[in-house]
Amino acid sequence: MTPRLAVLASGSGSNFQAILDARRDGRLEAVVAVLVASKPGIGAIVRAEAAGIPVEIPDQADSLAAVLKRVAPDRIILAGWLRRIPSELVEAYAGRILNIHPALLPKYGGAGMYGRHVHEAVILAGETVSGCTVHEVTEAYDEGPILGQATVPVHPDDTPETLAARVLAEEHRLYPSIIQTHLHGR
Ligand code: GRF
Repeated sequence: MTPRLAVLASGSGSNFQAILDARRDGRLEAVVAVLVASKPGIGAIVRAEAAGIPVEIPDQADSLAAVLKRVAPDRIILAGWLRRIPSELVEAYAGRILNIHPALLPKYGGAGMYGRHVHEAVILAGETVSGCTVHEVTEAYDEGPILGQATVPVHPDDTPETLAARVLAEEHRLYPSIIQTHLHGR
């Protein structure tokens, strides 16, 4: 049976879109069973609706755990998800929750290291190389086993925005291919 993905997003959903595109092109053999959005009105929802993917927005009455129990995905794919994943879920889906981080972990990860903050820190430290990391999610924030990385140069005149855009383009290439390998071993 074709494996089922639950994609969780809090923002524009460009990584979610890259997953949908890879599926359409046959580079990713998986069904996107649901987009779980952290709140209404985010870009990822617009993309899901355009692609005919069901959208769920968990709340107190219908928790993330309840949504995932219904969907029963083979993998949970965090694509810019800015909420904590409750410990029970990390345990229940051990080794089956993937995340993408816009830096070369183990550097520039952990609490407070998200979005613009990551790229600011990379530039401030004078790094000449940055990139992105796909890893399995464990209890320790951004510390789960690394599944793959891609690098980009940091240019002397980079701003957090220009660097973010360069990294994001690599994220879109890396994430679908790592998901495919994680699911199918090829
Ligand atoms: C990406 O930079 C990803 O690495 C991080 O959050 C951002 C999400 O962007 N975890 P998008 O919503 O996929 O465009």
